[in-house]
Amino acid sequence: MRKINIGLIGFGTVGSSVVKILKEKKDLLQRRLGAELVIKRIVDKDISTPRGIKIPPGILTRRIDDVLNDPGIDMVIELIGDSSVAERVILGAIKRGKPVVTANKALLAKKGREIFKEAEKKGVGVCFEASVGGGIPVIKALREGLAANRISSIFGIINGTANYILSGMSHYGSSFKEALKDARAKGYAERDPSLDVEGIDSAHKLTILSTLAFGGFVDLKDIHTEGITQITSQDIQYAKEFGYTIKLLAIAKESEGSLEVRVHPTMIPQEHLLAAVDGAYNAIYVRGDLIGRSMFYGRGAGGFPAASAVIADIMDLVKSEGQSLSLDFGKRPLKIKDMGEIKTRYYIRFTTVDRPGVLASISGILARHKISIASVIQKERREKGKVPIIMMSHEAKESSVQKALREIDRLKVVRAKSMLIRVEGEL
Ligand code: HSE
Repeated sequence: MRKINIGLIGFGTVGSSVVKILKEKKDLLQRRLGAELVIKRIVDKDISTPRGIKIPPGILTRRIDDVLNDPGIDMVIELIGDSSVAERVILGAIKRGKPVVTANKALLAKKGREIFKEAEKKGVGVCFEASVGGGIPVIKALREGLAANRISSIFGIINGTANYILSGMSHYGSSFKEALKDARAKGYAERDPSLDVEGIDSAHKLTILSTLAFGGFVDLKDIHTEGITQITSQDIQYAKEFGYTIKLLAIAKESEGSLEVRVHPTMIPQEHLLAAVDGAYNAIYVRGDLIGRSMFYGRGAGGFPAASAVIADIMDLVKSEGQSLSLDFGKRPLKIKDMGEIKTRYYIRFTTVDRPGVLASISGILARHKISIASVIQKERREKGKVPIIMMSHEAKESSVQKALREIDRLKVVRAKSMLIRVEGEL
């Protein structure tokens, strides 16, 4: 039987799960593939910490070149965190004609254009299913299953850690800190968890999804990115009272010839399918002209779901003789909409003194900026001298809302920076 020798670079949560699965499911994979997958080398900075798997002697090494320069290695699996080392690994493998599987969303978001250009030049496959949505085969769906569709929008919950934190705060009354600690202990979070909670990891993944869905390379800098660190349990509670759930959404929408791409906390109706996506689960909700609305749901973080995607990529590359299917993406010129131009509805929480005329001054400023109020509630005072006023707007233009808030926040009666959460009703 044909043998495929694999060089694995990165022996962390995902890398060790890949090795475990290749070992435990050896027979099944062999039967399905008609070839034997053999881990020939494993590279990591740390080759002494036990990972709970027996590794035959001579396989572990600290030197990347032991993989890149070994002509007996047929395929490189890159599962390291550090983007600059990963870039060297991937470009080095492509240069030597070795197909690559990577889960490195940060690197693909920043250097995807260069990497895929090199891969195309050399005719070498680069697969990246585990880079978005953990075990959900959404990359394959966009590249293959939905290939006949014109995609008009994507709404994704694509960071398990942030979703775990918001779900914990919403359902179990956990604090932000507790929920994050828990997500780290479960192996969901990035080594630097600010990437998760500041929305950056979601933005990385959105560059990948939108490049595939809309056909042109989307740059990371084009994505307006906000995280969940400012969301309070108060906002979660008020959202519930209005019939909404707060999720960190990655949104890409194409309309009237331009594409809006943004990541931010978003209020969505409680009855929407995405509102039911809890914990470390991810979901990618796609609208296509042929398929209509469709949702891809599953475990978005953790070793085994990611290993499931990595191994599927390995098998695809073996079947396609080291080529990626359809490298034909990233070629369409895209016009990115300025964030100030987007139109949506807004939840705004003002913190003011409790005095006659406050609401009138706020609504006067909103009216001047053509922002129409859909509903408003003044809550009971929670802290001495401060009262929350919660407003829902009708659809308004982002730049007008931002201008109005800057003006409102300068009023003497306003006691804290206003909190704004965008609302998506029509997903
Ligand atoms: N830190 C990521 C998450 C891991 O929480 O979704 C999966 O990419």
